[in-house]
Amino acid sequence: MAQLNNIQPLPQRQLGSTDLHLSVLGLGTVKLGRDKQVKYPSGFKIPEDKEVKNLFSACQDLGINFIDTAPAYGVSEERLGRLLPNKNDWLIMTKVGEAFENGQSSFDFSSTATRSSIERSLKRLKRDYLDMVLVHSDGNDMSIINNEGALSELAELKQQGLIRSFGMSTKTTEGGLWVVENCDVVMATCNLSDNSDLPVLARAKELNKGVVVKKGLQSGHADKSAGGSGVEAAFKHVFSQQGITSMIVGTINLQHLSDNVRIVNDVLTAD
Ligand SMILES: NC(=O)c1ccc[n+]([C@@H]2O[C@H](COP(=O)([O-])OP(=O)(O)OC[C@H]3O[C@@H](n4cnc5c(N)ncnc54)[C@H](OP(=O)(O)O)[C@@H]3O)[C@@H](O)[C@H]2O)c1
Repeated sequence: MAQLNNIQPLPQRQLGSTDLHLSVLGLGTVKLGRDKQVKYPSGFKIPEDKEVKNLFSACQDLGINFIDTAPAYGVSEERLGRLLPNKNDWLIMTKVGEAFENGQSSFDFSSTATRSSIERSLKRLKRDYLDMVLVHSDGNDMSIINNEGALSELAELKQQGLIRSFGMSTKTTEGGLWVVENCDVVMATCNLSDNSDLPVLARAKELNKGVVVKKGLQSGHADKSAGGSGVEAAFKHVFSQQGITSMIVGTINLQHLSDNVRIVNDVLTAD
């Protein structure tokens, strides 16, 4: 079991102009719900309920209040609903547009599918409202933005109080820029091998919008050219950028979780 004492709890940052305050590291939960068609360096076993509860408890001790999930992560949402302690203490980000059932992904960005996805997420997560909802892009960001009903449906659901903030997990710089102009939050890529979204981060800072970084550790393939495991260099790179609210890192390993918190605290206090 990883040693959690003597680790300072993570600081929080405000998500743009919303009243949500996220820990600077969030927990990614792909590995809690899906082990098929994933891009990790090695195979893994989806953890048992008891291991997941230990992971959540360690997150609480380390000051992590932010969890990222999606219908595309298999049974991840359902397990969060069932296993998260003190459900209202957590800020949960989920998504619409992609589902993963019977080992297959399918996409639907229509307003009808968006509404039913939100209803299903509310049930699975056992919540009366959702904190953050992103459109889970399939890569065609501008086509989703221009031709589909997902984002306008999310705006409507926010008006109705069913969601507190919304945006998109984008795959293009153009899409990311549109999202920061028009939504509350963007999930953008930032790592040592892909800095194409840096203009998105810069614009989000100017407009005071929320930015959640994905793929900061390159799905476990962190660039090792700077020496060591590459993890420390990867965190330094992400947190040297302006305008970031939080970074999502998935782990099912308690040692990695506490190492990550320690490293991020060191990086932030070295500034
Ligand atoms: N389109 C989207 O919306 C989208 C796409 C991709 C990802 N995401 C979200 O963003 C999160 C981040 O995605 P990601 O692609 O960067 O991958 P990830 O799912 O966060 O996976 C990170 C990988 O790095 C490993 N890891 C974590 N800490 C480590 C450490 N200290 N030392 C060595 N290995 C470590 C983890 O393995 P261990 O379990 O062994 O620690 C895991 O295999 C995802 O979990 C998901 O929530 C969203």
